[in-house]
Amino acid sequence: MYDIAIISGDGIGKEVMESAEYLLDKLDINFNFNYGEAGFECFNKNGTTLLEESIKIAKSSDATLFGASTSTPGQPSPIINLRKQLDVYANLRPIKSYKGVKSIKDNIDFIIVRENTEGLYSQIEYGDDNEVIAERVITRHASEKISEIAFKLAKRREKLNKVTCVHKSNVLKKTDGVFKESFYKIAEKYPQITTEDFYVDATAMYLITNPLNFDVIVSSNLFGDILSDESAGLVGGLGLAPSGNIGDEHGLFEPVHGSAPDIAGKGIANPCSMILSTAMMLDYIGEKETAMKINKAVEDVVGRGKVLTPDLGGNAKTMEMTEEIVKELI
Ligand code: NAI
Ligand code: MG
Repeated sequence: MYDIAIISGDGIGKEVMESAEYLLDKLDINFNFNYGEAGFECFNKNGTTLLEESIKIAKSSDATLFGASTSTPGQPSPIINLRKQLDVYANLRPIKSYKGVKSIKDNIDFIIVRENTEGLYSQIEYGDDNEVIAERVITRHASEKISEIAFKLAKRREKLNKVTCVHKSNVLKKTDGVFKESFYKIAEKYPQITTEDFYVDATAMYLITNPLNFDVIVSSNLFGDILSDESAGLVGGLGLAPSGNIGDEHGLFEPVHGSAPDIAGKGIANPCSMILSTAMMLDYIGEKETAMKINKAVEDVVGRGKVLTPDLGGNAKTMEMTEEIVKELI
């Protein structure tokens, strides 16, 4: 029996979470769902975008599923808060091309490991009207931890078996000096894994000219953020983009997309990013075989091209596509 925290949020976050729950209910594994609130509706009801109770639920569960939240003017982002509270320092974003979906190349399959807690997103900014400064915090501790995650992943993937460190150490000599040094220090523990390091600007080009070169990419917070959106664009967009945030004690899994107010309430959101995030969650809690089966079921349904939501060119509803994926599983 696994305890899973469910925080659906707003808009299509709630709709795709229904898909996740429907799928989990059909599996031969027992789950106990603990529900938490977060987001815009939560703010209107409770005066906060993230209830203390939701944090408690997430901390005490084996893993958390998050849908998406609509931003609340003047209020902190609940998902950034939750990531901090759970100290999930690694943001994992798998990038894969799917048969039947337009992609820059076939057989793209890599994962971006983005440092989730520091870098230029430390939110330390100051200055006056004329000069403003943002601090880019890079610690050996966080850099080594994120590299460790990247190498562990590469070892498990049994693909190219390579980790690419992305930085800009020719300009950011101190900060990315530490980031790169930490990467090569951890690499010594994994002699069977090939290493390479590129500057971030060159990487932005290589992703387009030679995406098959990549297996695991590890980078700091801002670079990882930018490269992962670029990469999602290479393989067909947000409807198929899952993510996982992991730390030493917790795992938080969420689709990359937001609450999509333009299609919310219509029942036409693509459930795949949430379902693929759910598979990442199952992998994290140890249900690796089921996770693989879910990935394969999504691949098959998308590849067959018969029951697809409108973003993929079909006219199926969220639940119709969900049912089709579940049918593949059982
Ligand atoms: P969005 O990701 O919600 O939507 C961007 C576009 O992609 C829209 O046209 C939407 O219809 C489409 N789209 C997204 N997911 C889809 C899916 N599963 N199936 C089909 N089409 C899909 O980003 P947007 O519009 O910039 O933001 C909307 C709200 O979501 C904002 O309040 C934003 O702050 C919030 N947001 C929340 C995130 C989170 O909770 N993690 C992440 C990104 C945005
Ligand atoms: Mg981003």
